[in-house]
Amino acid sequence: MSNGLKKDFLWGGAIAANQVEGAWNIDGKGISVADVAKYKSELSIEDYAAHNAVSLSSIEEAMNSLSVNEFPKRRGIDFYHRYEEDLELFAEMGFKTLRLSIAWSRIFPTGEEDKPNEKGLVFYENVFKKMKELNIEPVVTLSHYELPLELCLKYNGWVDRKLIDLFVKFSKVCFERYKDYVKYWLSFNEIDSVVRHPFTSGGIIPEKCENNKELQCIYQAVHHQFVASALATAECHKIIPDGKMGGMLTKLTTYPNTCNPKDVFLTLQSNLNNYAFSDVQVKGEYPVIFLKNLEQKGIVLEIQKDDLDIIKKHTVDFLSFSYYMSRTESADESLEKTSGNTIMGVRNPYLPSTEWGWQIDPLGLYISLIELYDRYNIPLFIVENGLGAKDVVEKDGSIHDEYRISYLKSHIEEMKKAVAAGVDLMGYTAWAPIDSISASTSQMSKRYGFIYVDQDDNGNGTLDRMKKDSFWWYKKVIESNGLILG
Ligand code: BG6
Repeated sequence: MSNGLKKDFLWGGAIAANQVEGAWNIDGKGISVADVAKYKSELSIEDYAAHNAVSLSSIEEAMNSLSVNEFPKRRGIDFYHRYEEDLELFAEMGFKTLRLSIAWSRIFPTGEEDKPNEKGLVFYENVFKKMKELNIEPVVTLSHYELPLELCLKYNGWVDRKLIDLFVKFSKVCFERYKDYVKYWLSFNEIDSVVRHPFTSGGIIPEKCENNKELQCIYQAVHHQFVASALATAECHKIIPDGKMGGMLTKLTTYPNTCNPKDVFLTLQSNLNNYAFSDVQVKGEYPVIFLKNLEQKGIVLEIQKDDLDIIKKHTVDFLSFSYYMSRTESADESLEKTSGNTIMGVRNPYLPSTEWGWQIDPLGLYISLIELYDRYNIPLFIVENGLGAKDVVEKDGSIHDEYRISYLKSHIEEMKKAVAAGVDLMGYTAWAPIDSISASTSQMSKRYGFIYVDQDDNGNGTLDRMKKDSFWWYKKVIESNGLILG
């Protein structure tokens, strides 16, 4: 029996270097924005929006500290030394693919060296060799919240055009070195996210923005990333004959709270603001309404002569996206709010929430797939979807995470329906197949994995890997190409 998914459907998982590798200051690695991200035990709704806002003094303080508990991404889950064991566990689950990122500061420690750091290059080469041996196809993100910190301090990150050349240089080194191993690439993780967390995604330190015009800085950085992504796409096609570059969007599907036109209007704005990013990467053009809106806000983009041609000429080959939750807009400011993936909305009474307030909406994934495919008509790839939850290890070492299975199952069911409705889908990579450090909170206790890692928020634990119930469940899903969902 077929369920409509392609025979070579790319089942697997997704991780990011800064959340798993650890080894933050060895083998020549430079410090990155992730290494100064502080542990947050709890995040209030208000803090969520500004979760990674930084000041020059907080960066300086972080740079003077060697603590790995205060800055847990420095320790990750020690994938740097345990990647063989972890990849073998992924292979045991039957992974066809693993999405992972290359930490820019492991290759160019400050971002500006003439020559790349050979030890960094060798590390990823070894990872890719092992993946080849295990028949796991890599999907590699070039920039996943790992900008060399030096580039923030010196240039205010992506605000400066200089970053375009530096990123293209880094990308070319990766394409040249790994062309025999890696065919699928993503330029920027969640290209829309500079707007929500300017420091983590764009390396922007607000107090360094001229006349404190942070929004101006943010959108200038966004423009530079668009140009850099297009130029990297061109290099990818030049260097790797069958290379494919994907865009990567945070799919923030937004609903109106009521049919009050004011709610509908806010929803329209929110969805258009989200689509603008994939529009540029897929269609190769800024939406007119998006540009006009910036102009009305007093934001003047510095666009150089060839920029728009470059963006038009080198569009992406496929569109990948993350999907965790949907959100709801209302004009009524008195309504209760809830958090989502670095964004807030009003609480949708029809949906359950995770412990972190993200509202679980499998049908929203169906809606997102249909909307995206109808809009762009190019292959799609779900590269992040998963449930962050606290897990309990039983006395016998078992971990019964039926809540995670239920979340994933309901989303995969909707994904299959969307494929049956005609969507061209390349694959599905769950976030994250192994517990790692949370991007927004740097918590270890917010776990996503099929594999449990014995480490708590304070860094205590053996780092041993243990299989959760979902491990066996996902193995069956992959074996049956999504037919058996349990
Ligand atoms: C995505 C990011 O937006 O959300 C990942 O690309 C991140 O890096 C994931 O880990 C889940 O978010 P969090 O904050 O729960 O880790």
